[in-house]
Amino acid sequence: MADDLVAAAQRVLAHAHAPYSHYRVGAALEADDGTIHVGCNVENASYGLTICAERAAVTAAIAAGARRFRRVAIVVEAAEPALPCGACRQVLSEFGDLEGISVGTERSVNWRLSALLPHAFGPDSLT
Ligand code: THU
Repeated sequence: MADDLVAAAQRVLAHAHAPYSHYRVGAALEADDGTIHVGCNVENASYGLTICAERAAVTAAIAAGARRFRRVAIVVEAAEPALPCGACRQVLSEFGDLEGISVGTERSVNWRLSALLPHAFGPDSLT
């Protein structure tokens, strides 16, 4: 996994709005044209409206014209890396079987989306 994707996720983490959890997350998506799109978590005083970094990155990427993604990097400041939550797994799976790297301060883990969300309901399910 290229360091530039992790570095992009690391940089955007600084923009996270996480006054409630104090758990800042940065995510960077690499589209199949090589462009990188980033997002951070955006919390809300109405807690349930919180948007995760991964979904923020997806919306930014789609708005920029990207449609398929190859890789995603997720960076947190905690010792343990964060794997995407269930909602983010579903949203990411819409756009490809991504390779992922989750980075914490103590260790990192590489994963593939289809391993985190097997038998996903996706675009093919509707045909
Ligand atoms: N969060 C993410 O942004 N991505 C993850 O993969 C895990 C959780 C956010 C949501 C919330 O703002 C905070 O982390 C604590 O759950």
